Amino acid sequence: MAGMNDDFKEKVRQSSDIIDVISGYVPLKKKGRDYWACCPFHGEKTPSFSVSKEKQFFYCYGCHVGGDVFEFVRKIENCTFPEALKILANRANIPIPEFKKTAEDRAREAQQAALINVNELAARYFVACLQKTAFGKKAYAYLQGRGITDKTIADFSLGAALPSYHSLLLNLQKHGCSVQELAQAGLIRERDGRYHDLFFNRVMIPIKDARGKVVAFGGRVLDDGIPKYLNTGETVLFQKREILFGLDIAIKAIRAKRLAVVVEGYMDAISLHAAGIDYAVASLGTAFSREHAKLLARLVDTVVLSYDSDDAGKRNAVRAVSILKDAEVPVKVLTVPEVKDPDEYVRKYGKEEFARLVTDAMDGTEFQIRYTIGKNNNEDLAGKVKTVSNLIPFLLESKNAIARAGYVRLIAQLLTIDEELIMGEYRKAAGKSKRADVAAVPVHVLKETKNLQAWEQAEMKLLGVLIHNSDLLPDYATEIAGIGFANPVRQAIFVALQPLVGKSQPEITSTLFADGEETVKQEIKLILTDDVAHDATPDHAKLMVRDCLRQMQKAQLEKLFEIHSKQADAYERAGDPRFMEELQKSQAIKDKIKRLYGDN
Ligand code: UTP
Ligand code: MN
Repeated sequence: MAGMNDDFKEKVRQSSDIIDVISGYVPLKKKGRDYWACCPFHGEKTPSFSVSKEKQFFYCYGCHVGGDVFEFVRKIENCTFPEALKILANRANIPIPEFKKTAEDRAREAQQAALINVNELAARYFVACLQKTAFGKKAYAYLQGRGITDKTIADFSLGAALPSYHSLLLNLQKHGCSVQELAQAGLIRERDGRYHDLFFNRVMIPIKDARGKVVAFGGRVLDDGIPKYLNTGETVLFQKREILFGLDIAIKAIRAKRLAVVVEGYMDAISLHAAGIDYAVASLGTAFSREHAKLLARLVDTVVLSYDSDDAGKRNAVRAVSILKDAEVPVKVLTVPEVKDPDEYVRKYGKEEFARLVTDAMDGTEFQIRYTIGKNNNEDLAGKVKTVSNLIPFLLESKNAIARAGYVRLIAQLLTIDEELIMGEYRKAAGKSKRADVAAVPVHVLKETKNLQAWEQAEMKLLGVLIHNSDLLPDYATEIAGIGFANPVRQAIFVALQPLVGKSQPEITSTLFADGEETVKQEIKLILTDDVAHDATPDHAKLMVRDCLRQMQKAQLEKLFEIHSKQADAYERAGDPRFMEELQKSQAIKDKIKRLYGDN
Protein backbone atom coordinates (compact mmCIF):
# COMPACT_ATOMS: atom_id res chain seq x y z
CA MET A 1 0.00 0.00 0.00
CA ALA A 2 2.86 2.33 0.80
CA GLY A 3 4.15 1.68 -2.69
CA MET A 4 0.86 2.68 -4.23
CA ASN A 5 0.82 5.79 -2.11
CA ASP A 6 4.27 6.79 -3.31
CA ASP A 7 3.28 6.13 -6.90
CA PHE A 8 0.32 8.42 -6.45
CA LYS A 9 2.45 11.11 -4.86
CA GLU A 10 5.02 10.90 -7.66
CA LYS A 11 2.31 11.02 -10.29
CA VAL A 12 0.90 14.17 -8.70
CA ARG A 13 4.36 15.67 -8.43
CA GLN A 14 5.08 15.06 -12.10
CA SER A 15 1.80 16.70 -13.10
CA SER A 16 2.35 19.70 -10.84
CA ASP A 17 5.02 21.91 -12.33
CA ILE A 18 6.12 24.20 -9.53
CA ILE A 19 6.14 27.28 -11.77
CA ASP A 20 2.54 26.61 -12.88
CA VAL A 21 1.35 25.96 -9.37
CA ILE A 22 3.05 28.92 -7.70
CA SER A 23 2.07 31.36 -10.42
CA GLY A 24 -1.53 30.48 -9.57
CA TYR A 25 -0.89 32.19 -6.23
CA VAL A 26 1.75 34.85 -6.90
CA PRO A 27 2.81 36.53 -10.13
CA LEU A 28 6.26 35.22 -11.07
CA LYS A 29 8.82 37.07 -13.18
CA LYS A 30 11.61 35.27 -14.99
CA LYS A 31 15.06 36.70 -14.28
CA GLY A 32 18.04 34.62 -15.38
CA ARG A 33 17.36 30.96 -14.83
CA ASP A 34 14.93 31.41 -11.97
CA TYR A 35 11.55 32.96 -11.38
CA TRP A 36 11.04 35.70 -8.79
CA ALA A 37 8.24 37.28 -6.76
CA CYS A 38 7.56 39.12 -3.55
CA CYS A 39 7.40 36.42 -0.92
CA PRO A 40 3.82 35.40 -0.06
CA PHE A 41 4.96 34.25 3.40
CA HIS A 42 6.38 37.49 4.72
CA GLY A 43 5.70 41.11 3.87
CA GLU A 44 8.23 42.64 1.48
CA LYS A 45 8.43 45.17 -1.32
CA THR A 46 11.40 43.83 -3.31
CA PRO A 47 11.28 40.22 -4.50
CA SER A 48 13.47 37.75 -2.63
CA PHE A 49 11.27 34.72 -3.28
CA SER A 50 12.78 32.52 -5.99
CA VAL A 51 11.50 29.45 -7.81
CA SER A 52 13.68 27.11 -9.81
CA LYS A 53 12.06 25.25 -12.67
CA GLU A 54 15.05 22.95 -12.98
CA LYS A 55 15.14 21.94 -9.33
CA GLN A 56 11.35 22.19 -8.86
CA PHE A 57 12.12 24.04 -5.68
CA PHE A 58 11.27 27.40 -4.10
CA TYR A 59 13.30 29.42 -1.65
CA CYS A 60 12.91 32.83 -0.01
CA TYR A 61 16.14 34.66 0.74
CA GLY A 62 14.21 36.93 3.08
CA CYS A 63 12.46 34.53 5.43
CA HIS A 64 14.32 31.34 4.51
CA VAL A 65 11.32 29.20 3.77
CA GLY A 66 11.73 26.75 0.97
CA GLY A 67 10.73 23.36 -0.35
CA ASP A 68 9.05 21.46 -3.13
CA VAL A 69 5.64 21.95 -4.65
CA PHE A 70 3.88 20.04 -1.84
CA GLU A 71 5.57 22.15 0.78
CA PHE A 72 4.49 25.31 -1.04
CA VAL A 73 0.82 24.27 -1.16
CA ARG A 74 0.96 23.09 2.45
CA LYS A 75 2.24 26.49 3.51
CA ILE A 76 0.11 28.75 1.37
CA GLU A 77 -3.13 26.82 1.96
CA ASN A 78 -2.17 26.32 5.58
CA CYS A 79 -3.08 22.64 5.34
CA THR A 80 -1.71 19.16 6.05
CA PHE A 81 0.38 17.18 3.60
CA PRO A 82 -2.49 14.84 2.60
CA GLU A 83 -4.66 17.88 1.97
CA ALA A 84 -1.96 19.46 -0.18
CA LEU A 85 -1.65 16.22 -2.09
CA LYS A 86 -5.39 16.24 -2.66
CA ILE A 87 -5.43 19.87 -3.81
CA LEU A 88 -2.69 19.20 -6.34
CA ALA A 89 -4.30 15.92 -7.48
CA ASN A 90 -7.60 17.72 -8.09
CA ARG A 91 -5.79 20.47 -9.92
CA ALA A 92 -4.10 17.96 -12.20
CA ASN A 93 -7.31 15.92 -12.60
CA ILE A 94 -5.67 12.83 -11.11
CA PRO A 95 -8.21 10.61 -9.37
CA ILE A 96 -7.47 10.12 -5.70
CA PRO A 97 -6.88 6.43 -4.92
CA GLU A 98 -9.93 4.85 -3.36
CA PHE A 99 -8.06 2.79 -0.81
CA LYS A 100 -7.46 5.82 1.34
CA LYS A 101 -11.12 6.42 2.04
CA THR A 102 -13.68 4.75 4.24
CA ALA A 103 -16.95 3.56 2.76
CA GLU A 104 -18.67 6.46 4.47
CA ASP A 105 -16.24 8.97 2.92
CA ARG A 106 -16.89 7.49 -0.47
CA ALA A 107 -20.67 7.60 -0.11
CA ARG A 108 -20.60 11.23 1.02
CA GLU A 109 -18.21 12.24 -1.71
CA ALA A 110 -20.30 10.49 -4.31
CA GLN A 111 -23.40 12.33 -3.14
CA GLN A 112 -21.60 15.66 -3.08
CA ALA A 113 -20.13 15.07 -6.52
CA ALA A 114 -23.60 14.23 -7.86
CA LEU A 115 -25.06 17.40 -6.37
CA ILE A 116 -22.23 19.56 -7.66
CA ASN A 117 -22.85 18.04 -11.06
CA VAL A 118 -26.54 18.93 -10.85
CA ASN A 119 -25.68 22.48 -9.78
CA GLU A 120 -23.11 22.92 -12.53
CA LEU A 121 -25.63 21.74 -15.12
CA ALA A 122 -28.24 24.10 -13.70
CA ALA A 123 -25.79 27.01 -13.77
CA ARG A 124 -25.03 26.27 -17.42
CA TYR A 125 -28.73 26.09 -18.22
CA PHE A 126 -29.39 29.46 -16.53
CA VAL A 127 -26.49 31.03 -18.45
CA ALA A 128 -27.94 29.69 -21.72
CA CYS A 129 -31.35 31.13 -20.78
CA LEU A 130 -29.77 34.53 -20.20
CA GLN A 131 -28.05 34.48 -23.56
CA LYS A 132 -30.67 32.87 -25.76
CA THR A 133 -34.19 33.66 -24.62
CA ALA A 134 -36.52 36.61 -24.76
CA PHE A 135 -36.73 36.65 -20.95
CA GLY A 136 -32.94 36.45 -20.90
CA LYS A 137 -32.82 39.72 -22.83
CA LYS A 138 -34.90 41.39 -20.12
CA ALA A 139 -32.64 39.94 -17.41
CA TYR A 140 -29.55 41.09 -19.29
CA ALA A 141 -30.97 44.59 -19.66
CA TYR A 142 -31.65 44.60 -15.93
CA LEU A 143 -28.03 43.69 -15.16
CA GLN A 144 -26.72 46.29 -17.60
CA GLY A 145 -28.97 48.84 -15.95
CA ARG A 146 -27.18 48.06 -12.69
CA GLY A 147 -23.79 48.68 -14.25
CA ILE A 148 -22.79 45.01 -14.43
CA THR A 149 -20.37 44.47 -17.31
CA ASP A 150 -20.31 41.52 -19.70
CA LYS A 151 -17.03 40.43 -18.17
CA THR A 152 -18.51 40.40 -14.68
CA ILE A 153 -21.58 38.54 -15.96
CA ALA A 154 -19.21 35.91 -17.38
CA ASP A 155 -16.88 35.84 -14.33
CA PHE A 156 -19.80 35.24 -11.98
CA SER A 157 -21.66 32.95 -14.44
CA LEU A 158 -24.81 35.04 -14.00
CA GLY A 159 -27.90 33.59 -15.64
CA ALA A 160 -31.67 33.73 -15.80
CA ALA A 161 -34.50 31.47 -14.64
CA LEU A 162 -37.40 31.60 -17.11
CA PRO A 163 -40.93 32.56 -16.09
CA SER A 164 -42.06 28.94 -16.24
CA TYR A 165 -42.66 26.35 -13.54
CA HIS A 166 -40.88 23.39 -15.04
CA SER A 167 -38.24 24.51 -17.51
CA LEU A 168 -35.24 23.68 -15.32
CA LEU A 169 -36.75 20.38 -14.15
CA LEU A 170 -37.45 19.22 -17.71
CA ASN A 171 -34.10 20.38 -19.04
CA LEU A 172 -32.01 18.74 -16.35
CA GLN A 173 -33.99 15.51 -16.56
CA LYS A 174 -32.97 15.45 -20.20
CA HIS A 175 -29.37 15.65 -18.99
CA GLY A 176 -29.87 12.60 -16.79
CA CYS A 177 -30.60 14.21 -13.43
CA SER A 178 -33.18 12.48 -11.25
CA VAL A 179 -36.02 14.23 -9.46
CA GLN A 180 -34.47 13.08 -6.21
CA GLU A 181 -31.13 14.71 -7.01
CA LEU A 182 -32.77 17.94 -8.10
CA ALA A 183 -34.75 18.03 -4.87
CA GLN A 184 -31.65 17.32 -2.79
CA ALA A 185 -29.89 20.18 -4.55
CA GLY A 186 -32.77 22.43 -3.54
CA LEU A 187 -33.61 23.33 -7.14
CA ILE A 188 -37.12 21.90 -7.25
CA ARG A 189 -39.94 21.65 -4.75
CA GLU A 190 -42.92 19.41 -4.26
CA ARG A 191 -46.45 20.73 -4.13
CA ASP A 192 -49.53 18.47 -4.18
CA GLY A 193 -47.46 15.53 -5.30
CA ARG A 194 -45.96 17.41 -8.24
CA TYR A 195 -42.53 18.99 -8.52
CA HIS A 196 -41.89 22.48 -9.83
CA ASP A 197 -38.84 24.72 -10.18
CA LEU A 198 -37.89 26.77 -7.14
CA PHE A 199 -36.53 29.61 -9.25
CA PHE A 200 -38.51 31.29 -11.99
CA ASN A 201 -38.67 34.78 -13.37
CA ARG A 202 -35.36 35.76 -11.79
CA VAL A 203 -31.77 36.77 -12.46
CA MET A 204 -29.71 33.80 -11.29
CA ILE A 205 -26.56 34.09 -9.23
CA PRO A 206 -24.62 30.86 -8.70
CA ILE A 207 -22.98 30.63 -5.30
CA LYS A 208 -19.59 28.97 -5.55
CA ASP A 209 -17.12 27.66 -3.00
CA ALA A 210 -13.54 28.91 -2.81
CA ARG A 211 -12.53 26.53 -5.59
CA GLY A 212 -15.27 27.72 -7.92
CA LYS A 213 -17.68 24.78 -7.57
CA VAL A 214 -21.36 25.75 -7.68
CA VAL A 215 -22.91 24.82 -4.33
CA ALA A 216 -26.11 26.88 -4.34
CA PHE A 217 -28.03 29.67 -6.08
CA GLY A 218 -29.53 33.02 -5.35
CA GLY A 219 -32.17 34.54 -7.57
CA ARG A 220 -33.32 38.14 -7.78
CA VAL A 221 -36.57 39.49 -9.17
CA LEU A 222 -36.22 42.08 -11.93
CA ASP A 223 -38.68 44.46 -10.34
CA ASP A 224 -40.05 45.21 -6.90
CA GLY A 225 -41.52 41.74 -6.53
CA ILE A 226 -41.47 39.80 -3.29
CA PRO A 227 -39.38 38.10 -2.13
CA LYS A 228 -36.60 40.20 -3.62
CA TYR A 229 -34.12 37.36 -3.29
CA LEU A 230 -34.69 33.65 -3.16
CA ASN A 231 -31.89 31.31 -2.12
CA THR A 232 -31.31 27.59 -2.19
CA GLY A 233 -31.86 26.25 1.31
CA GLU A 234 -28.96 24.69 3.12
CA THR A 235 -28.00 21.36 1.59
CA VAL A 236 -25.22 18.84 2.22
CA LEU A 237 -23.16 21.04 -0.10
CA PHE A 238 -24.09 24.41 1.17
CA GLN A 239 -23.81 25.86 4.64
CA LYS A 240 -24.16 29.61 4.49
CA ARG A 241 -21.77 30.24 7.33
CA GLU A 242 -19.01 28.46 5.41
CA ILE A 243 -19.30 30.26 2.09
CA LEU A 244 -17.98 33.68 1.24
CA PHE A 245 -19.64 34.67 -1.99
CA GLY A 246 -17.14 35.70 -4.68
CA LEU A 247 -14.08 34.28 -2.92
CA ASP A 248 -13.27 32.02 -5.88
CA ILE A 249 -12.94 35.06 -8.12
CA ALA A 250 -11.52 37.49 -5.58
CA ILE A 251 -8.98 35.14 -3.99
CA LYS A 252 -6.08 36.11 -6.24
CA ALA A 253 -6.49 39.83 -5.68
CA ILE A 254 -7.13 39.30 -1.97
CA ARG A 255 -3.95 37.31 -1.63
CA ALA A 256 -1.91 39.80 -3.62
CA LYS A 257 -3.22 42.82 -1.69
CA ARG A 258 -3.44 40.95 1.65
CA LEU A 259 -6.75 42.80 1.91
CA ALA A 260 -10.41 41.84 1.56
CA VAL A 261 -13.57 43.94 1.54
CA VAL A 262 -16.56 42.12 2.99
CA VAL A 263 -20.07 43.27 2.03
CA GLU A 264 -23.53 42.03 3.04
CA GLY A 265 -25.19 41.34 -0.29
CA TYR A 266 -24.06 39.46 -3.34
CA MET A 267 -25.18 42.30 -5.59
CA ASP A 268 -22.80 44.55 -3.67
CA ALA A 269 -19.92 42.15 -4.32
CA ILE A 270 -20.81 41.77 -8.01
CA SER A 271 -21.19 45.51 -8.45
CA LEU A 272 -17.83 46.21 -6.78
CA HIS A 273 -16.13 43.71 -9.09
CA ALA A 274 -17.79 45.31 -12.12
CA ALA A 275 -16.36 48.65 -10.95
CA GLY A 276 -12.86 47.16 -10.59
CA ILE A 277 -12.80 46.50 -6.85
CA ASP A 278 -11.75 42.90 -7.36
CA TYR A 279 -11.04 42.04 -3.71
CA ALA A 280 -14.67 42.10 -2.54
CA VAL A 281 -16.62 39.15 -1.13
CA ALA A 282 -20.08 38.88 0.47
CA SER A 283 -21.30 37.02 3.52
CA LEU A 284 -24.66 36.27 1.84
CA GLY A 285 -26.91 38.42 3.95
CA THR A 286 -26.31 36.18 6.96
CA ALA A 287 -24.25 37.06 9.96
CA PHE A 288 -20.52 36.99 9.47
CA SER A 289 -19.32 33.72 11.00
CA ARG A 290 -16.23 32.27 12.65
CA GLU A 291 -15.85 30.11 9.57
CA HIS A 292 -15.78 33.22 7.39
CA ALA A 293 -13.10 34.71 9.61
CA LYS A 294 -11.05 31.53 9.35
CA LEU A 295 -11.31 31.52 5.57
CA LEU A 296 -9.92 35.05 5.41
CA ALA A 297 -7.40 34.79 8.25
CA ARG A 298 -4.69 33.13 6.24
CA LEU A 299 -5.19 35.28 3.15
CA VAL A 300 -5.15 38.84 4.46
CA ASP A 301 -3.49 41.31 6.77
CA THR A 302 -6.68 43.35 7.03
CA VAL A 303 -10.39 42.82 6.49
CA VAL A 304 -12.46 45.91 5.71
CA LEU A 305 -16.17 45.54 6.43
CA SER A 306 -18.40 47.56 4.14
CA TYR A 307 -21.94 46.94 5.29
CA ASP A 308 -25.17 48.77 4.54
CA SER A 309 -25.28 52.28 5.94
CA ASP A 310 -28.51 51.71 7.89
CA ASP A 311 -28.58 50.85 11.56
CA ALA A 312 -28.91 47.11 10.91
CA GLY A 313 -25.76 47.24 8.77
CA LYS A 314 -23.87 49.01 11.52
CA ARG A 315 -25.05 46.56 14.16
CA ASN A 316 -23.95 43.68 11.94
CA ALA A 317 -20.57 45.35 11.49
CA VAL A 318 -20.08 45.71 15.26
CA ARG A 319 -20.72 41.97 15.64
CA ALA A 320 -18.51 40.99 12.71
CA VAL A 321 -15.67 43.06 14.19
CA SER A 322 -15.90 40.98 17.37
CA ILE A 323 -15.67 37.74 15.42
CA LEU A 324 -12.66 38.92 13.43
CA LYS A 325 -10.91 40.19 16.56
CA ASP A 326 -11.47 36.83 18.15
CA ALA A 327 -9.85 35.17 15.13
CA GLU A 328 -6.99 37.67 15.43
CA VAL A 329 -7.67 39.20 12.04
CA PRO A 330 -7.07 42.98 11.98
CA VAL A 331 -10.36 44.58 10.99
CA LYS A 332 -11.56 47.98 9.83
CA VAL A 333 -14.99 49.32 9.01
CA LEU A 334 -16.10 51.70 6.29
CA THR A 335 -19.52 53.26 6.05
CA VAL A 336 -20.64 54.60 2.70
CA PRO A 337 -21.89 58.17 3.12
CA GLU A 338 -25.21 59.39 1.66
CA VAL A 339 -26.30 56.13 0.03
CA LYS A 340 -27.68 52.77 1.15
CA ASP A 341 -24.93 50.33 0.28
CA PRO A 342 -21.54 49.84 -1.41
CA ASP A 343 -23.26 48.99 -4.71
CA GLU A 344 -24.99 52.38 -4.89
CA TYR A 345 -21.85 54.17 -3.75
CA VAL A 346 -19.50 52.68 -6.29
CA ARG A 347 -21.97 53.29 -9.11
CA LYS A 348 -22.42 56.89 -8.11
CA TYR A 349 -18.82 57.82 -7.29
CA GLY A 350 -16.66 55.18 -8.98
CA LYS A 351 -13.80 52.90 -8.12
CA GLU A 352 -11.27 55.51 -6.95
CA GLU A 353 -13.62 57.05 -4.43
CA PHE A 354 -14.53 53.66 -3.04
CA ALA A 355 -10.86 52.68 -2.83
CA ARG A 356 -10.29 55.89 -0.89
CA LEU A 357 -12.97 54.86 1.61
CA VAL A 358 -11.19 51.52 1.96
CA THR A 359 -7.89 53.26 2.68
CA ASP A 360 -9.51 55.60 5.19
CA ALA A 361 -11.59 52.89 6.90
CA MET A 362 -11.92 53.16 10.66
CA ASP A 363 -10.23 50.76 13.06
CA GLY A 364 -12.79 48.08 14.00
CA THR A 365 -12.71 48.60 17.76
CA GLU A 366 -12.95 52.36 17.33
CA PHE A 367 -16.05 51.74 15.21
CA GLN A 368 -17.56 49.54 17.93
CA ILE A 369 -16.84 52.26 20.49
CA ARG A 370 -18.17 55.21 18.46
CA TYR A 371 -21.28 53.32 17.37
CA THR A 372 -22.11 52.22 20.93
CA ILE A 373 -21.51 55.66 22.39
CA GLY A 374 -23.74 57.13 19.67
CA LYS A 375 -26.55 54.73 20.62
CA ASN A 376 -26.51 55.58 24.32
CA ASN A 377 -27.72 58.49 26.36
CA ASN A 378 -24.61 60.05 27.85
CA GLU A 379 -26.13 63.18 29.33
CA ASP A 380 -25.39 62.45 32.96
CA LEU A 381 -22.83 60.38 34.83
CA ALA A 382 -25.22 57.47 35.31
CA GLY A 383 -25.69 57.28 31.55
CA LYS A 384 -21.96 57.41 30.98
CA VAL A 385 -21.33 54.64 33.48
CA LYS A 386 -23.88 52.48 31.69
CA THR A 387 -22.22 53.25 28.35
CA VAL A 388 -18.84 52.27 29.77
CA SER A 389 -20.25 48.93 30.88
CA ASN A 390 -21.54 48.38 27.33
CA LEU A 391 -18.06 49.13 26.00
CA ILE A 392 -16.14 46.78 28.28
CA PRO A 393 -16.70 43.69 26.07
CA PHE A 394 -14.97 45.48 23.17
CA LEU A 395 -11.98 46.22 25.41
CA LEU A 396 -11.87 42.62 26.59
CA GLU A 397 -11.77 41.46 22.97
CA SER A 398 -8.77 43.70 22.27
CA LYS A 399 -5.82 41.57 23.20
CA ASN A 400 -3.09 44.15 22.67
CA ALA A 401 -2.45 46.17 25.84
CA ILE A 402 -1.09 49.22 24.02
CA ALA A 403 -4.02 49.38 21.61
CA ARG A 404 -6.35 48.88 24.55
CA ALA A 405 -4.83 51.82 26.39
CA GLY A 406 -5.53 53.91 23.28
CA TYR A 407 -9.19 52.83 23.25
CA VAL A 408 -9.52 53.68 26.92
CA ARG A 409 -8.19 57.16 26.16
CA LEU A 410 -10.62 57.52 23.26
CA ILE A 411 -13.58 56.54 25.44
CA ALA A 412 -12.43 58.96 28.15
CA GLN A 413 -12.28 61.78 25.59
CA LEU A 414 -15.60 60.99 23.93
CA LEU A 415 -17.43 60.70 27.25
CA THR A 416 -15.36 63.33 29.09
CA ILE A 417 -14.68 61.06 32.01
CA ASP A 418 -11.55 59.88 33.77
CA GLU A 419 -9.49 57.14 32.11
CA GLU A 420 -8.97 55.49 35.47
CA LEU A 421 -12.70 54.99 35.89
CA ILE A 422 -12.80 53.03 32.63
CA MET A 423 -9.63 51.12 33.47
CA GLY A 424 -11.11 50.16 36.83
CA GLU A 425 -14.25 48.76 35.19
CA TYR A 426 -12.11 46.98 32.65
CA ARG A 427 -9.93 45.33 35.28
CA LYS A 428 -12.94 44.23 37.25
CA ALA A 429 -14.40 42.60 34.16
CA ALA A 430 -11.06 41.14 33.11
CA GLY A 431 -10.67 39.62 36.55
CA LYS A 432 -14.11 38.08 36.32
CA SER A 433 -14.01 36.79 32.79
CA LYS A 434 -10.47 35.51 32.90
CA ARG A 435 -9.83 34.57 36.47
CA ALA A 436 -8.02 31.43 35.41
CA ASP A 437 -5.79 33.30 32.96
CA VAL A 438 -4.89 36.00 35.43
CA ALA A 439 -3.98 33.47 38.08
CA ALA A 440 -1.89 31.60 35.54
CA VAL A 441 0.24 34.60 34.61
CA PRO A 442 2.75 34.60 37.47
CA VAL A 443 3.29 30.84 37.32
CA HIS A 444 4.00 30.98 33.63
CA VAL A 445 6.25 34.02 33.96
CA LEU A 446 8.08 32.57 36.93
CA LYS A 447 8.99 29.53 34.95
CA GLU A 448 10.34 31.59 32.10
CA THR A 449 13.52 33.09 33.52
CA LYS A 450 15.24 33.86 36.77
CA ASN A 451 15.09 37.61 36.09
CA LEU A 452 11.35 37.60 36.05
CA GLN A 453 11.40 35.92 39.39
CA ALA A 454 13.28 38.83 40.90
CA TRP A 455 10.80 41.10 39.26
CA GLU A 456 7.85 39.19 40.69
CA GLN A 457 9.35 39.53 44.12
CA ALA A 458 9.95 43.23 43.56
CA GLU A 459 6.31 43.83 42.62
CA MET A 460 5.14 42.01 45.72
CA LYS A 461 7.61 43.72 48.00
CA LEU A 462 6.65 47.12 46.63
CA LEU A 463 2.99 46.50 47.40
CA GLY A 464 3.95 45.25 50.85
CA VAL A 465 5.84 48.45 51.58
CA LEU A 466 2.99 50.60 50.31
CA ILE A 467 0.38 48.75 52.33
CA HIS A 468 2.44 49.33 55.47
CA ASN A 469 3.40 52.90 54.58
CA SER A 470 0.45 54.23 52.64
CA ASP A 471 1.48 57.83 53.28
CA LEU A 472 4.33 57.28 50.80
CA LEU A 473 1.79 56.76 48.00
CA PRO A 474 1.31 60.38 46.87
CA ASP A 475 5.07 60.82 46.40
CA TYR A 476 5.52 57.76 44.23
CA ALA A 477 2.13 57.16 42.61
CA THR A 478 3.01 58.77 39.26
CA GLU A 479 6.32 57.03 38.95
CA ILE A 480 4.90 53.65 39.87
CA ALA A 481 1.98 54.08 37.48
CA GLY A 482 4.46 54.93 34.73
CA ILE A 483 6.37 51.71 35.20
CA GLY A 484 3.31 49.64 36.02
CA PHE A 485 2.87 46.14 37.37
CA ALA A 486 3.23 43.41 34.79
CA ASN A 487 0.94 41.21 36.82
CA PRO A 488 -2.67 42.42 36.40
CA VAL A 489 -3.78 41.36 39.87
CA ARG A 490 -1.00 43.43 41.45
CA GLN A 491 -1.83 46.31 39.16
CA ALA A 492 -5.41 46.09 40.40
CA ILE A 493 -4.22 46.15 44.02
CA PHE A 494 -2.09 49.20 43.29
CA VAL A 495 -5.08 51.02 41.79
CA ALA A 496 -7.26 50.01 44.74
CA LEU A 497 -4.67 51.47 47.13
CA GLN A 498 -4.98 54.98 45.70
CA PRO A 499 -7.96 56.16 47.76
CA LEU A 500 -6.53 54.57 50.93
CA VAL A 501 -3.64 57.02 51.47
CA GLY A 502 -2.77 57.53 55.13
CA LYS A 503 -4.71 54.52 56.37
CA SER A 504 -3.06 51.86 58.52
CA GLN A 505 -2.12 48.41 57.26
CA PRO A 506 -5.01 46.60 59.02
CA GLU A 507 -7.54 49.14 57.70
CA ILE A 508 -6.18 48.78 54.18
CA THR A 509 -6.12 45.01 54.30
CA SER A 510 -9.69 44.76 55.54
CA THR A 511 -10.94 47.24 52.91
CA LEU A 512 -9.19 45.36 50.11
CA PHE A 513 -10.52 42.08 51.46
CA ALA A 514 -14.06 43.41 51.73
CA ASP A 515 -14.54 44.27 48.07
CA GLY A 516 -11.69 42.47 46.33
CA GLU A 517 -11.83 39.57 43.92
CA GLU A 518 -10.68 36.15 45.07
CA THR A 519 -7.43 36.56 43.11
CA VAL A 520 -6.79 39.88 44.86
CA LYS A 521 -7.28 38.34 48.30
CA GLN A 522 -4.92 35.48 47.50
CA GLU A 523 -2.26 37.90 46.33
CA ILE A 524 -2.58 40.12 49.39
CA LYS A 525 -2.16 37.09 51.64
CA LEU A 526 1.03 36.20 49.83
CA ILE A 527 2.31 39.75 50.10
CA LEU A 528 1.66 39.92 53.82
CA THR A 529 3.28 36.59 54.64
CA ASP A 530 6.55 37.90 53.22
CA ASP A 531 6.43 40.70 55.72
CA VAL A 532 9.73 42.48 55.10
CA ALA A 533 8.14 45.89 55.27
CA HIS A 534 6.47 45.45 58.60
CA ASP A 535 8.69 47.51 60.88
CA ALA A 536 10.81 49.50 58.44
CA THR A 537 11.64 53.11 59.28
CA PRO A 538 10.24 55.69 56.82
CA ASP A 539 13.69 56.15 55.26
CA HIS A 540 14.20 52.44 54.94
CA ALA A 541 10.77 52.13 53.34
CA LYS A 542 11.69 54.77 50.75
CA LEU A 543 14.88 52.90 49.90
CA MET A 544 12.90 49.72 49.44
CA VAL A 545 10.45 51.47 47.08
CA ARG A 546 13.36 52.75 44.98
CA ASP A 547 14.95 49.33 44.90
CA CYS A 548 11.77 47.56 43.87
CA LEU A 549 11.07 50.08 41.13
CA ARG A 550 14.56 49.63 39.78
CA GLN A 551 14.16 45.87 39.68
CA MET A 552 10.84 46.14 37.91
CA GLN A 553 12.29 48.52 35.36
CA LYS A 554 15.34 46.35 34.90
CA ALA A 555 13.22 43.30 34.18
CA GLN A 556 11.15 45.24 31.65
CA LEU A 557 14.28 46.52 29.93
CA GLU A 558 15.82 43.07 29.89
CA LYS A 559 12.74 41.68 28.22
CA LEU A 560 12.97 44.47 25.63
CA PHE A 561 16.67 43.83 25.18
CA GLU A 562 15.97 40.18 24.50
CA ILE A 563 13.35 41.03 21.88
CA HIS A 564 15.60 43.46 20.01
CA SER A 565 18.74 41.38 20.16
CA LYS A 566 16.86 38.31 18.94
CA GLN A 567 15.46 40.39 16.10
CA ALA A 568 18.97 41.65 15.34
CA ASP A 569 20.24 38.07 15.16
CA ALA A 570 17.43 37.05 12.84
CA TYR A 571 18.10 40.02 10.54
CA GLU A 572 21.81 39.36 10.54
CA ARG A 573 21.31 35.73 9.51
CA ALA A 574 18.97 36.89 6.76
CA GLY A 575 21.49 39.48 5.57
CA ASP A 576 18.90 42.17 6.22
CA PRO A 577 20.53 45.59 6.81
CA ARG A 578 17.91 46.44 9.41
CA PHE A 579 19.96 44.40 11.85
CA MET A 580 22.13 47.49 12.52
CA GLU A 581 19.07 49.37 13.70
CA GLU A 582 18.08 46.55 16.03
CA LEU A 583 21.60 46.27 17.34
CA GLN A 584 21.67 49.97 18.15
CA LYS A 585 18.35 49.63 19.92
CA SER A 586 19.58 46.74 22.03
CA GLN A 587 22.74 48.65 22.87
CA ALA A 588 20.73 51.68 23.96
CA ILE A 589 18.63 49.44 26.21
CA LYS A 590 21.73 47.91 27.72
CA ASP A 591 23.07 51.38 28.49
CA LYS A 592 19.79 52.25 30.16
CA ILE A 593 20.02 49.17 32.35
CA LYS A 594 23.53 50.17 33.43
CA ARG A 595 22.38 53.68 34.22
CA LEU A 596 19.64 52.30 36.46
CA TYR A 597 22.34 51.40 38.93
CA GLY A 598 24.76 54.22 38.21
CA ASP A 599 22.83 57.32 39.19
CA ASN A 600 21.62 56.38 42.62
P1 UTP B 1 -30.48 43.82 0.69
O1 UTP B 1 -31.95 43.98 0.86
O2 UTP B 1 -29.57 44.82 1.34
O3 UTP B 1 -30.25 43.74 -0.82
O4 UTP B 1 -30.08 42.35 1.15
P2 UTP B 1 -29.16 44.40 -1.76
O5 UTP B 1 -27.91 43.66 -1.60
O6 UTP B 1 -29.11 45.87 -1.60
O7 UTP B 1 -29.80 44.00 -3.14
P3 UTP B 1 -30.27 44.94 -4.30
O8 UTP B 1 -29.24 45.96 -4.46
O9 UTP B 1 -31.61 45.51 -3.93
O10 UTP B 1 -30.38 43.98 -5.44
C1 UTP B 1 -28.76 41.92 1.35
C2 UTP B 1 -28.70 40.42 1.27
O11 UTP B 1 -29.69 39.83 2.07
C3 UTP B 1 -30.18 38.65 1.48
C4 UTP B 1 -29.42 38.46 0.20
O12 UTP B 1 -28.32 37.59 0.44
C5 UTP B 1 -28.93 39.85 -0.12
O13 UTP B 1 -27.78 39.82 -0.91
N1 UTP B 1 -31.63 38.77 1.17
C6 UTP B 1 -32.22 39.97 1.05
C7 UTP B 1 -32.36 37.63 0.99
O14 UTP B 1 -31.84 36.52 1.08
N2 UTP B 1 -33.69 37.72 0.68
C8 UTP B 1 -34.30 38.92 0.53
O15 UTP B 1 -35.52 38.96 0.22
C9 UTP B 1 -33.56 40.08 0.75
MN1 MN C 1 -28.33 47.20 -3.00
